[in-house]
Amino acid sequence: MPAPEIALTQRFQTAFAAAFGSEYADADPIIRPSQFADFQCNAAMGLAKRLGRKPRDIAAEIVEAVDLSDIAEDPEIAGPGFLNIRLRTDWVAAQAAELVDPAAALGVPAPERAETVVLDYSAPNVAKEMHVGHLRTTVVGDSIARTLEKLGHTVVRQNHIGDWGTPFGMLIEHLLEVGEDSAEADLLKTDPNAFYQAARATFDGGGDFAERARKRVATLQSGDAESLRIWTNLVELSKLYFHRIYDMLGVTLTDDHLAGESSYNDLLAAVCDDLEAAGIARISDGALCVFPEGFTGRDEQPLPLIIRKSDGGYGYATTDLAAIRHRVGTLGADRIGYVVGSAQGLHFQMVFTAAREAGWLPDEVQAEHVKIGSVLGEDGKILRTRSGSSLRLMALLEEAVGTARTVIDDLRPDLPEDERAQIAHDIGIGGVKYADLSTAHDSDYTFDLDRMLALTGNTAPYLQYAVARIRSISRKAAAQGITAAAAPRIENDAERALALQLLEFGPTLVSVGAEFEPHRLCAYLFSLAQAFTSFYEASPILKESDEEVRAGRLALAQLTERVLVEGLDALGVNAPQQM
Ligand code: ARG
Repeated sequence: MPAPEIALTQRFQTAFAAAFGSEYADADPIIRPSQFADFQCNAAMGLAKRLGRKPRDIAAEIVEAVDLSDIAEDPEIAGPGFLNIRLRTDWVAAQAAELVDPAAALGVPAPERAETVVLDYSAPNVAKEMHVGHLRTTVVGDSIARTLEKLGHTVVRQNHIGDWGTPFGMLIEHLLEVGEDSAEADLLKTDPNAFYQAARATFDGGGDFAERARKRVATLQSGDAESLRIWTNLVELSKLYFHRIYDMLGVTLTDDHLAGESSYNDLLAAVCDDLEAAGIARISDGALCVFPEGFTGRDEQPLPLIIRKSDGGYGYATTDLAAIRHRVGTLGADRIGYVVGSAQGLHFQMVFTAAREAGWLPDEVQAEHVKIGSVLGEDGKILRTRSGSSLRLMALLEEAVGTARTVIDDLRPDLPEDERAQIAHDIGIGGVKYADLSTAHDSDYTFDLDRMLALTGNTAPYLQYAVARIRSISRKAAAQGITAAAAPRIENDAERALALQLLEFGPTLVSVGAEFEPHRLCAYLFSLAQAFTSFYEASPILKESDEEVRAGRLALAQLTERVLVEGLDALGVNAPQQM
């Protein structure tokens, strides 16, 4: 296991047990990267508290007891009892050499326990806008799914699209009015928001349309065949639109992952009946409600989660409760992640609590809302997708690719046209996705194409360029008959720093999967690329005359390429062959 933290943790825990007794064998040595050494062990302060002794004395005893001789130099005690650890360069080199072996999976460990993770993400609404917010839930969710799979977990993707409910009366009536084969109906495939708004305008416009729409909801929900046929048509047209966006983005969602609100229709009555029979739901003001423990509104009144409206209709919460039952009971979830806008935080907390009370979400199954912040426009307001304007989602992505095209035309006018087009796609889409991913998922950020596509800074193009650069070095090396050594060469400080970064890939990916935080992977890849730049300045490859040194450095560069490409792949960002 190449990760230094893991090796150090084991050695320190052995030392704790030897010095303070076996009950200390599990104490966390708190190994952290350090600016003063390679790592720090910050355990002395906590242990001192438990043992009722002075931290510096504890630190001295740890140093006495710990055996790091083959891994590191003797730790140095600093400040109140920090232990600074400098790893031995030959050990770092040996660990890096292990990483090269394909069986080492770049240091990504097999999971202690492989989990089935149900991941609910993207979830746009049929015949409505798919806005930049959905872009972000799609991109972040997809990256989490890819990461978990690389970590050896089973991911069950669930695209909980909004394909049911009151708007469908209006949408069906509108589709009938414009004609199912009309150009307006075709809008559903290209600009569904325009279709929705036209329907809305007719609805608000007076006449008997609103009344017809209301009646249509009832006939649809009672299972009327003709209404269901038109509804299916609406959903099918919308799916074409979603998949155009997904294809453009290169996300892993397919039709197989669709599990929209409507798929739970047959389960909703039982959800209500069972909760009522269990005494968890009760009628309040004509509606069937759950009052989950711990949620109060104004005047400390218990907050209701309405599961059946007074008119008998079911809502968003009912569907989500049915979905949890299905995900745990049928899909076998050990963990469920909901990659959804922050605004729905209260909804999910109430739904999770209600499901726990009902016994549908056992304690050992984690349910987490991966809160997604807003994408803002330059005016600092939430970026809205306006139909027909440049803020249409597809237009936005096309603009990103177009801008990337000018970047690559500038950079590599020598490349053939079709190759430049492919690279522009990778940079443009990669840039937009990376901007979503490199910001903490619950923070807002400003949509700024120029920044997203910049070749410097924490951006996709910067990382893509680092990969392309290494690939170009490899091509030139191959042309000169230079082959890489079996193991990377780790001698000077820059090589050491780069190797230490490479050894962090496994632990970083593990924490990204555990915490559902792709932005940590971005931060990691960014510092890895920076470490590569420093290495390449300090340790030239092709210009180096010593054959052995050259081959060892090339091996280090190629290992870096593999880690960068694998990390970008976990983010869903493609790395072009050249740039
Ligand atoms: N369709 C919803 C929206 O656009 C998101 C659904 C999220 N998933 C869920 N299980 N509620 O806001």
